[in-house]
Amino acid sequence: MVTSSTTAHSATPATAKAAAEGPTADSPRRVTVLGSTGSIGCNTIDLIDRNRDAYDVVALTANGNVDALAEQALRLRPEVAVVADEDKYAALKERLAGSGIEAAAGCAAVTEAAARDADWVMSAIVGAAGLEPTLAAIRRGCVVGLANKETLVCAGALVMAEVEQHGATLLPVDSEHSAIFQVFDFDQAERVSRIVLTASGGPFREWERAAMETVTPAQAVAHPNWSMGAKISVDSATMMNKGLELIEAAHLFPVPEDRIEILVHPQSVIHSMVEYVDASMLAQLGTPDMRTPIAYALAWPARMSAPSPRLDLAAVAQLTFQAPDTERFPALRLARAALQSGGAVPTLLNAANEVAVARFLAGEIGFLDIARSVETVLERAGPMPLATLDDVAAADAEARRLAATVTPRARAAAE
Ligand SMILES: NC(=O)c1ccc[n+]([C@@H]2O[C@H](COP(=O)([O-])OP(=O)(O)OC[C@H]3O[C@@H](n4cnc5c(N)ncnc54)[C@H](OP(=O)(O)O)[C@@H]3O)[C@@H](O)[C@H]2O)c1
Repeated sequence: MVTSSTTAHSATPATAKAAAEGPTADSPRRVTVLGSTGSIGCNTIDLIDRNRDAYDVVALTANGNVDALAEQALRLRPEVAVVADEDKYAALKERLAGSGIEAAAGCAAVTEAAARDADWVMSAIVGAAGLEPTLAAIRRGCVVGLANKETLVCAGALVMAEVEQHGATLLPVDSEHSAIFQVFDFDQAERVSRIVLTASGGPFREWERAAMETVTPAQAVAHPNWSMGAKISVDSATMMNKGLELIEAAHLFPVPEDRIEILVHPQSVIHSMVEYVDASMLAQLGTPDMRTPIAYALAWPARMSAPSPRLDLAAVAQLTFQAPDTERFPALRLARAALQSGGAVPTLLNAANEVAVARFLAGEIGFLDIARSVETVLERAGPMPLATLDDVAAADAEARRLAATVTPRARAAAE
């Protein structure tokens, strides 16, 4: 969501014109990329690399992929490159020796990098690990491109309060939320009658539930339309991703939960829609290439050229839609219930899902056990308060503790 101090609507014509020009060689934007070695991070680096004059890189961060991080750093010359994994510090320092680029390691160093004086920060760490660094950027009042949806799922109200307090600007990078953002009239929010979040349906859209019992990690990460990191690919396959996006949308846009709908649209051409009270429905369309929404956020409020394939609607020929099936994809039901419950329930849902996805990828539990684990954790943890960031940490830790040992097969037997 854009804060009132930074909306294009509130700017004077002169400042609006200057802002609309976006970053240029004469006025480069100082940018930091958190999670630069991931799928979103690499796409962001690709766009920056194609427009080197318009961007100065302040910091790049990764978890442990020193090779990719060092290669990016030596190419883009940030002030600092950081790995969260402290065991990788020596390797990173050695790779950057003599370059003049500072090397750092540890979670605190990632957060410190996020707090450096960039104008624009890409939040593309995966999971709740992105919360602290994203908050550090928000507290500097800068523009944050938010790919890390888990930040809003696990601490949405607190994060949005900090955005307001520090005059930061949050630009959604998730393709659905970028689409909504591009057609959502914040000056007439009360005249929005509904938001429609589109969903590809993932690789198992047409599968019987019983057949999903034996899905392997390799099958689950093979998304039909999008190329993404492993965690979000599994989330797309279970449709928990759409559930997390529902919660994300409820925080980003001033529309009540019961007016945010999910619609399966297998072609992933319409990235989402906003309906107004006069029955007009506005949509943003494009090919499924994350460089489009990333470019939108990177150049905002201007536009930059992106190398994404152009949409050829005649070749697509048909756009199809179907209602989501919460029986075969119970994660959708769990996420909506978590949003309705509020408090720490979304935090618990997110952490339980992260652990269950990791256990599935490690071969410890089956594909359908992911949602079963999450449901069991939610039942066992019960309601928990969510008034402070300490509450977020407590709920997150409790859900991870429960999810690590839960035996979802017991629930399967009862189905
Ligand atoms: N991929 C997409 O198309 C897409 C679309 C919409 C939204 N998103 C969201 O964007 C975020 C990133 O997704 P992704 O697909 O780009 O993930 P990814 O490919 O797995 O990349 C994750 C990035 O975060 C880093 N990282 C992982 N754990 C970390 C930790 N504990 N501390 C610090 N850094 C850590 C990784 O470093 P290493 O490389 O060193 O492991 C990597 O740079 C997710 O929240 C996802 O839901 C992604």
